[in-house]
Amino acid sequence: MIILGVESSCDECSLAIVEDGKNILSHQIYSQIELHKPFSGVVPEIASRNHLIKILELFKQTTLGFSLKDIDAIAASTGPGLIGSLVIGTMTAKALSYALNKAFIPVDHIEAHLYTPHLNNDIPFPHIALVCSGGHTLLFLVESFEKKTILGTTIDDAIGEAFDKVAKMLNLGYPGGPIIQKNALNGDENFWKLPHGLADNPKDRYHFSYSGLKTAVYYKLRDLDPPYPIADICASFQKAAVMSLLKKLKNVLQDTKIKTIITVGGVAANIRLRAELDKLIVSGYQIFHTPLALCGDNAAMVAGRAYIDYQNNSYKKKSWDSYARYPLISKGKRL
Ligand code: KG4
Ligand code: ZN
Repeated sequence: MIILGVESSCDECSLAIVEDGKNILSHQIYSQIELHKPFSGVVPEIASRNHLIKILELFKQTTLGFSLKDIDAIAASTGPGLIGSLVIGTMTAKALSYALNKAFIPVDHIEAHLYTPHLNNDIPFPHIALVCSGGHTLLFLVESFEKKTILGTTIDDAIGEAFDKVAKMLNLGYPGGPIIQKNALNGDENFWKLPHGLADNPKDRYHFSYSGLKTAVYYKLRDLDPPYPIADICASFQKAAVMSLLKKLKNVLQDTKIKTIITVGGVAANIRLRAELDKLIVSGYQIFHTPLALCGDNAAMVAGRAYIDYQNNSYKKKSWDSYARYPLISKGKRL
């Protein structure tokens, strides 16, 4: 079965053609990073306008050499995400589904991320999924494609957001994650001792917090005279950010006894995080990292996940109104 997927929930405009949820036959990703750099973050109005400008050109490039008749269904990320951006991808996909008389499959953007490592692996269930991106920091118990439970979430900033904000404080540019990772390579990660997230009291055993870490960097920086030891600061911050993910993940692993872990989202590209996760392998854990090229937003994961929803017919029942942040995540509010 051949599905055309569309992703436009934030600042990546992407289309892909995927066969049977596994084979990526065609894939285009247009990143708007350059347009948002001057603002050190994504500007929703700029994002949606540029999806509008780019999407048909990307559709033509993605479908070059394909007969539209061979496409069996059209899928789009319908949320969570930026509403103006979601509308462009969703309505493009719906218009195509109408014109081609093919099913339209709405896909939850987080479920699409959770699918990414399944594109090239057969991953056993149940597994624990660590979602770490610019907008989300989540721990899921995934019992099947249909059954997933949020175990932990951030109570304030997402981890990627913290990388971006710290990079901004240091005037390093946007997006912060890859820049901090690069600078950290030559740094002493014990230069500063920074907080490693929420203390392990029972109600926060699986939850994350990144605003305290960000604030700690802010105050330590304020007390320092320039020129700043950028590499050491980046390394210290990166260590604290990664270790606070690991601390909560390990709590979940200990409590659930589950031995299979997947990692998804932009921050899952982080080499320090990957190295730390790989240390778990000697203790019998199986780690499925998302391929680097697919950690960020992309349409292959949307078309892949849509295949599952089509096969089990669940797409007909899916509500596709999760436009804002993921359910159960609101600032300062625990589950
Ligand atoms: O998943 P993503 O592309 O977009 C969403 O937020 O949905 O994630 C983007 C985030 C940004 O905050 C970026 O700084 C971070 O992922 N990021 C990284 C790395 N690459 C991207 N953070 C840490 N290390 C990286 N190598
Ligand atoms: Zn995403």
